[in-house]
Amino acid sequence: MNADGSKPASKLLRVLNGEVEAIPPVWLMRQAGRYLPEYRELREKAGSFLDLCYNPELAAEVTLQPIRRFDFDAAILFADILLIPQALGQNLIFAPGDGPRLSPVLEKSDIEKFRNQNIHQTLAPVYETVRRVRASLSPEKALIGFAGAPWTVATYMMAGGPNKDPAALRRRWYDAREFIIELIDVLVDATADYLVAQIDAGADSVQIFDSWAGGMPEDVTRAVSLEPLGRLAERVKKLRPRTPVILFPKGAGALLGDYAAIKSCSAVGVDYSTPWRAARAMISPNAAAQGGLDPMLVVKGGPDMEMGARGLIDTFSGVPYIFNLGHGLTPDTPPENVARLVGAVRAG
Ligand code: CP3
Repeated sequence: MNADGSKPASKLLRVLNGEVEAIPPVWLMRQAGRYLPEYRELREKAGSFLDLCYNPELAAEVTLQPIRRFDFDAAILFADILLIPQALGQNLIFAPGDGPRLSPVLEKSDIEKFRNQNIHQTLAPVYETVRRVRASLSPEKALIGFAGAPWTVATYMMAGGPNKDPAALRRRWYDAREFIIELIDVLVDATADYLVAQIDAGADSVQIFDSWAGGMPEDVTRAVSLEPLGRLAERVKKLRPRTPVILFPKGAGALLGDYAAIKSCSAVGVDYSTPWRAARAMISPNAAAQGGLDPMLVVKGGPDMEMGARGLIDTFSGVPYIFNLGHGLTPDTPPENVARLVGAVRAG
């Protein structure tokens, strides 16, 4: 609902408010990125990936590129989940072809240094990107802000990059829970501030990516992912009650219903490995569902992709549903397949 009680012009926001749309709104995770030649051109112009994230003019342009090309119902801010650790004072580089590298957080004293950092100084260009994008989008298009979930960001902070040893991470939890809880608590605070600032700059909704929510025993998942995500969502909702919060707990499987039951959660993302009917049953009385299509089907394209899209839309008919993928688009995706996919979704 808008502040005056009328319905939002944006289809995405209507679904996030619990309405059912016969043709679902569509956007795709990682819709801006290397699969688009116009992205590769601007990234080159910016210098590095991080230079692009902190350049509001170019980042706004990159955010808008997929909207122009495919007419998606929503834009997602171009930035990265690892800007928060950087704003907290951790070194971050993206080595070409090698993914992110951070100086690992090993001791309590490392966490102490993160407290009382003014993240907004570093992140101000991101808020400026949000303002610019919102100003150039029509009211039918929603702008989604985002951040990484405390747990997912903590895994990168602790491992100094993508975590390659899940068993070591679980051992660390059993050995040093207080350390991990303390790191997560710092991240809950910083991430809430970050999301509120994005909302104040013009984001219509925010999505929190918990890419590493899966693959752990239930009690560990509850402690490191579900509970802190709930706290973060509640905090954002308390400060900005009109803004819908989307949670994407990748790998959460049978616990999806527990994420959907978080009071401040408006929608839950379904990853590509979750059975669709089970996802619908777990999510749908409490929140809208989003996603589900295997991104590899968009690399493949053709009838397999279109059948997948139709199957998803059928499965989620009659409940609030946002068309999306079960994880992000990959750099090897042919852009023409994305155009075909959007066409298939809109054809019903
Ligand atoms: O979805 C979008 O279009 C918005 C932008 C966005 C990016 N990263 C841009 C990006 C979003 C929402 C993210 C989220 C993100 N970043 C996540 C959560 C979602 C997921 O994929 O699970 C994670 C785990 C990261 C961390 C990250 N950023 C990694 C591990 C990497 C390297 C791997 C890779 O894909 O290259 C990145 C780099 C990154 N973030 C790129 C883009 C477009 C590629 C950088 C480049 O241009 O070279």
